[in-house]
Amino acid sequence: MNGLQQLPRAEYAQRRQQLMAQLPEGALVLVCAAPTSVRNGDVDHAYRQDSYFYYLTGFAEPGSALLLRLAGGVVDSVLLCREKDPLQETWHGRRLGVEAAPDALQVSAAKPISELETVLDDWLDGAKYVYFAQAREDVSQAVQASAARLRGRIRQGSQVPEFYGDVDAVLNEMRLFKSAAEVTLMRQAGAISARAHQRLMQTTRPGVMEYQLAAHFAHACSMEGSQRLAYGTIVAGGENACILHYENNNQALQDGDLVLVDAGCELDYYAADITRTYPVNGCFSEPQKAIYQLVLQALDAAIAVVQEGVTVNAMQVAAVDVITRGLVDLGILQGDVDKLIADEAYKPFYLHNVGHWLGMDVHDVGNYKLYAQWRPLQAGMVTTIEPGIYIAPDTVDIDPQWLGIGVRIEDNILVTATGHENFTRQVPVTVAEIESLMQQAAQQEHG
Ligand code: GLY
Ligand code: MN
Ligand code: MN
Repeated sequence: MNGLQQLPRAEYAQRRQQLMAQLPEGALVLVCAAPTSVRNGDVDHAYRQDSYFYYLTGFAEPGSALLLRLAGGVVDSVLLCREKDPLQETWHGRRLGVEAAPDALQVSAAKPISELETVLDDWLDGAKYVYFAQAREDVSQAVQASAARLRGRIRQGSQVPEFYGDVDAVLNEMRLFKSAAEVTLMRQAGAISARAHQRLMQTTRPGVMEYQLAAHFAHACSMEGSQRLAYGTIVAGGENACILHYENNNQALQDGDLVLVDAGCELDYYAADITRTYPVNGCFSEPQKAIYQLVLQALDAAIAVVQEGVTVNAMQVAAVDVITRGLVDLGILQGDVDKLIADEAYKPFYLHNVGHWLGMDVHDVGNYKLYAQWRPLQAGMVTTIEPGIYIAPDTVDIDPQWLGIGVRIEDNILVTATGHENFTRQVPVTVAEIESLMQQAAQQEHG
């Protein structure tokens, strides 16, 4: 797959309308681009736009802000952005510029970002309700500074806002429900990442460095049109898999070990998040197979419950049930299953939750509970399902055959009107599928 996969541009304007339709008449919204971040000297970290700002604009440039206002039922929008500057553009890259912005981004007007203070003062004056990202200190400061300037001009007729709301709280609920176009992109991000995982399985050998597999994954994704990964790839050989967010990726893969690969690409700001665990030499040992099949059973059980109306927590309940029963069958836990579940006896081996929302952010936004109750799943939500069992090498009172085995398997699941769709099932996942793919690849290499 080549060329840039993108969301239809009209969707951004629709989202702005949808946002403002939920706010009171006269409401003002300020959403700002992500700040740049210095890596060292005059070199910045790779820039990624703020997800909320991109969600409303589809505009990836730093030094930008969006102001929206609802007046007489009509949405007025102004984008503030960097001005064209031939010298800066020669050094650092092209800019859209103020003149081209209204057409390109379907906003009512555009102004230079240098005018943010002036425009903000003008728009804030008399606005009763003001919404911005309360979690962003830089944005809060800009709003507070503007309000302070207005307060100083009260006798000249300026009016200070009465209510400050959190725009993220409104946007989080919108972002939780994926449109048809978002689903198409996420399905594509899943498929690209799935093929990259498959390529990794085919190239994994004893002696390969963890970071080399990570590089291979990134390469495979970019060759299919993804410009960036959704998060730092985890390649964890052997007992490194028992470190949940292992990120050193600096060890050689050992014959006889498993390797856990947690990696996903990003496609026009939409993430995939896949984990597969497989034997470095292409053949599971008996203890590895036993743990692996238990995690796979937990994955299947958790996916099977996904449908509209089921609560978010049901997937975790299903996974915990399978894992606890299985650990008892393997002799790793002893006792009555129901009591072990009530006592959370599985926690030393399965300490995280079964999944999280997935979307523009890998750990995507959206509440899991509503009014203190686990919320029901609804069509358009996308969640990961990722049970795991991790038996740390220093675990005591356990048969040594299990020590250092860490397995997680992770798929990306869309809730649909009729049940669910697994975006990432294409990556081999059963023991037979994995062993056959890896052994075929080894034969081809030697044959
Ligand atoms: N890739 C991080 C996670 O699975 O949550
Ligand atoms: Mn995940
Ligand atoms: Mn993951």
